[in-house]
Amino acid sequence: MKQLKIGVIGLGGRARHVAMYTRNSANSLKIAEVNVTAVCDPRPKDELIAYAKADGYDLDISESRFYTDADEMLDTEELDACIIGTRCNLHTPLAIKVLDRNIDLFLEKPVATTIEDLLALKAAGERSSSRVVVSFPLRVTPPVTLSKEIIDSGEIGDIVFANGWTRVAYGGCYYHNWYRDESITGGLFLQKATHDFDYINYLIGKKPVEICAMKSKMVMKGNKPAGLYCKDCPENPTCVEGTVHGWRTFGYAQDDGKCCYAVDTGNEDSGSAILRYEDGTHLSYSQAFFLRNIASCGRGVFLGGTKGSLTFDFNTNVIKVARSYENVVKDITFTASGAHFGGDERLTENFVKMLCGIEPSHSPLEEGLISALICLKAKQSAENNAFKKLVYEK
Ligand SMILES: NC(=O)c1ccc[n+]([C@@H]2O[C@H](COP(=O)([O-])OP(=O)(O)OC[C@H]3O[C@@H](n4cnc5c(N)ncnc54)[C@H](O)[C@@H]3O)[C@@H](O)[C@H]2O)c1
Repeated sequence: MKQLKIGVIGLGGRARHVAMYTRNSANSLKIAEVNVTAVCDPRPKDELIAYAKADGYDLDISESRFYTDADEMLDTEELDACIIGTRCNLHTPLAIKVLDRNIDLFLEKPVATTIEDLLALKAAGERSSSRVVVSFPLRVTPPVTLSKEIIDSGEIGDIVFANGWTRVAYGGCYYHNWYRDESITGGLFLQKATHDFDYINYLIGKKPVEICAMKSKMVMKGNKPAGLYCKDCPENPTCVEGTVHGWRTFGYAQDDGKCCYAVDTGNEDSGSAILRYEDGTHLSYSQAFFLRNIASCGRGVFLGGTKGSLTFDFNTNVIKVARSYENVVKDITFTASGAHFGGDERLTENFVKMLCGIEPSHSPLEEGLISALICLKAKQSAENNAFKKLVYEK
């Protein structure tokens, strides 16, 4: 059985999850054994070892070697692949280090948070022989795979119109914890819509060429002092977004949550974009993060084709296909359980198969780059009230 030595850079919540899923996928495929042989993270070794086994995870990294400097780890270790799971603004500089050593890579999204980083990453990808899986689990979920088959069969004709939506009840994290700092995330198009633009583009199968966008901050704002923690706020017991209410409503609250009504709370709380494709097809997409009742929420797409339509919401487990000129409506039920509607399992399986030379990446770097470009241009458009061409330039 192939032994895969994996290095993790940034062993936080997401990378712990991805590393464990990668190990589990290799075990269930019975094609490789995955070992996290090296970890690069500024947190103390003992904390990382305990963290890897906490909260229901069972990643054993007690035999790993630990580094705080990525260059040192990459120069010392013989790795088959790296997982990069730091916070967003470090993805590009760390990915370039891995790509320049031609090591295969699982790269968290967004792949870049600035145009400058995006251009540098694109250039690094072009000069590297690394194989890359970008962390876009939605594109390999059952509803997306199934929808792609239906679209490719020609049943709904050529897709000429699309509408996508994301409204999440757990949006508090974008205003209470580290995500509230836009200098780290680059804003919520890059944080959330990057997934949706990716899977919707994959389904439409056309080249996006232009975008216009708008974003608003109507709810998650206020005059509370910068850096105020909910736990230190006298209004916590009555505040609908405070940690006390969070526990009451959701059974959980943001750890060490900061005030979402403070003067330093970043991120828009809703945003919309219209994307034009090369043949004139367009997609309208909207996302919202201030709604807290699950009944208000959803994530999905409507695709209008020349012969009919296809729509699904990841949360309802049904793909509806309707033919325009025949009285035919089909409801196709899918099961999409597990993290990211089953996408994390499928994507880490693809990562393992790619490393074993069995299949190519289903989420290559080019897809991460184009999705980040769309999000960066959406942000520019929203901030400058201007249409933006989707070209790799500032
Ligand atoms: N693909 C998805 O669906 C998905 C889901 C959740 C999160 N994410 C992304 O995952 C990323 C990480 O999120 P998280 O919640 O795990 O964050 P986190 O804060 O839990 O983890 C970040 C880790 O990086 C470490 N770190 C900091 N500086 C470092 C450096 N210079 N070198 C190496 N390690 C360093 C931190 O100590 C920490 O352990 C974010 O970019 C987020 O957008 C993606």
